Amino acid sequence: MRLRRCAMLLLEPRETVAFQFEALLDGGDGRVRSLGWVALAPHLEQPVALSAQAQAWLGTLSPSAWTELAADAAEMPMAQALLAAGLLIAEDGDGVAAARDARLRGVHWHPLAAVMHAFSRWDGVDAVYNMQASETETAEQMRQTLGEPPREAPQLAGAGPRLALPDVDGNAFDQLLARRVTCRNFDPDRPLPLAVFAQLLQRTFGSRCRFQVGQDLVFLKKSVPSGGGLHPIEAYLVVQNVAGLAPGLYHYRGDSHELERVASEVTVDRAFVMEMVGQQHWFADAHVLVVLAPRFERTFWKYRQHAKSYRVVAMEAGHLSQTLYLAATDAGLGAFITGAINEKHIERALQLDTIAEGVLAVCGFGWRAAQMTTTELDPAGMIWHPAAV
Ligand SMILES: Cc1cc2nc3c(=O)[nH]c(=O)nc-3n(C[C@H](O)[C@H](O)[C@H](O)COP(=O)(O)O)c2cc1C
Repeated sequence: MRLRRCAMLLLEPRETVAFQFEALLDGGDGRVRSLGWVALAPHLEQPVALSAQAQAWLGTLSPSAWTELAADAAEMPMAQALLAAGLLIAEDGDGVAAARDARLRGVHWHPLAAVMHAFSRWDGVDAVYNMQASETETAEQMRQTLGEPPREAPQLAGAGPRLALPDVDGNAFDQLLARRVTCRNFDPDRPLPLAVFAQLLQRTFGSRCRFQVGQDLVFLKKSVPSGGGLHPIEAYLVVQNVAGLAPGLYHYRGDSHELERVASEVTVDRAFVMEMVGQQHWFADAHVLVVLAPRFERTFWKYRQHAKSYRVVAMEAGHLSQTLYLAATDAGLGAFITGAINEKHIERALQLDTIAEGVLAVCGFGWRAAQMTTTELDPAGMIWHPAAV
């Protein structure tokens, strides 16, 4: 049999801490610690526990050249187990792991970014329950549980005297910035007009101009900057409450300012949306939720195995989010972004090719409710006048 190691693999000596009542009776604190090797391979969905022997042997196998292993080789049982786990690939292998490993080789991820992205995705996480369980739900609880925080502004050691800067007269742009407040209270009883919806999408995700180089290299000019001008982030929409638009899953085409329905089996109901946003009910009534879904392969096509390329894509999600916030604020709407999302749930619904594409954040926008039920950060009372709170 001819074998090679999967393309990317990070080996972690992981400590697991379990609570055992017997350990408490023996006079300890009840915690039992065990150490073991864990393989983090981004083409696999889960970490794989490894014996020390398998860990050492994997380190001797090339991920590029094929190694011949005789049928009666002493390593054969270990090889079979590693093949079944997807950490080894057979030359004639045709399973899911082999296919994903081959795909990964073609997408040019930086290995550390691939591992980080693959293993920081959530599935079935209830972020609200986790905040309650960790007693970090309110600001007071956070202070109580987490202790003294780093200061809100750093005190530079050895800094010279401070120079006061002029306060320049504000204009409409300052007013707009001041009214940008993350919205956690949407009004489910007031549909969003289609024209406002379209304007927000165009301003944030739409192409303003197209520039072609040669036969098939096309650059789109958008409102936001993008590393290499490649604009890898797609906007998938969960439309919930837009006048004249059937609720459901859509893809916004930034190149042509059009919507297309996503072919998906899923039912887009409240449970689906709550699962998207990690059970943060304060976002579930948004008129529109926007999944920021990079096609990593577009940026990585230029920046191959590049140490910065994943960061660049993540930063672009921030640019899109801020532009969406400002466009929404300008239109008299509220907007939000959340990173506490169940990416795998969204990937399944959108049927993303998770080696080449992914989900970085979920944004949303819509009319604000008249009453504040969930706290928003508006200390200056720009949005929430005392009567409404
Ligand atoms: C990347 C990112 C992720 C965020 N994730 C969440 C989130 O999971 N839940 C939430 O309620 N707010 C989330 N927020 C919003 C922040 O809580 C909010 O920006 C902050 O409290 C400051 O309030 P402001 O945006 O109104 O100024 C996120 C903001 C950013 C930039």
